[in-house]
Amino acid sequence: MKYTVMIPAAGSGQRMGAGYNKLFLKLGDRPILIHTLQVFEDDPSCEGIVLAVKAEEQPSIQEMLSEFSITKVTAMVEGGGERQNSVAACIRAYEGEGIVLVHDAARPFIRHNVIAELVSIADAHGAAIAGVQAKDTMKYAPGGIVEETVDREKLWIVQTPQAFRYALLREASDKAVADGFLGTDESMLVERLGHPVRMVESTYDNVKMTTQEDLVFGEILLTRKR
Ligand code: C5P
Repeated sequence: MKYTVMIPAAGSGQRMGAGYNKLFLKLGDRPILIHTLQVFEDDPSCEGIVLAVKAEEQPSIQEMLSEFSITKVTAMVEGGGERQNSVAACIRAYEGEGIVLVHDAARPFIRHNVIAELVSIADAHGAAIAGVQAKDTMKYAPGGIVEETVDREKLWIVQTPQAFRYALLREASDKAVADGFLGTDESMLVERLGHPVRMVESTYDNVKMTTQEDLVFGEILLTRKR
């Protein structure tokens, strides 16, 4: 089943502390952004990539795409102040239909079998998101005081990709914009419509490169991949 992927890459990566966009940092011999794009470049089911970037970074990203022979970027749009704004810009720029994925540029270790499962479930049911079950004991502790131990069997740690029928995602995104609602993922926007969202089991190594220690982990994962 074919799909298009929307990749927000317009963050500043403050928690990484690199002083510039963390996606330009290298894992092995290439930038994090290229590792992520390569996953979709290599997937025959991926028909195109819509990328959200900062206007001032567009020339260097364009150069990177040529250097590493990434050919599937069909549109590059200007990202916004928050991640959700960057994704909204991708959604508005897309002119197709069918299944779309939203995937963080900072998650280079997503696996092809998880992508395929997400696409298939989103096609059947409208919305499917990647996640893993909580391994540790989970406490609800507002203000640092434990109020409750939560049943971890029912808890998922949510990742990207998140897959949707395009019409559903568009409706959810437009409504969020109209309502001034800001979520931390696209699923939240779809949940607001009352549409069920299905969990798809991903892997614990689909980590988001967020802080310096994630880079150490990333280098190890890369060695294993080769
Ligand atoms: O900062 P964080 O890693 O959580 O961001 C997740 C993804 O969203 C990253 O790939 C980042 O580049 C992107 N992002 C964006 N626009 C923003 C903030 C983040 O495209 N304003």
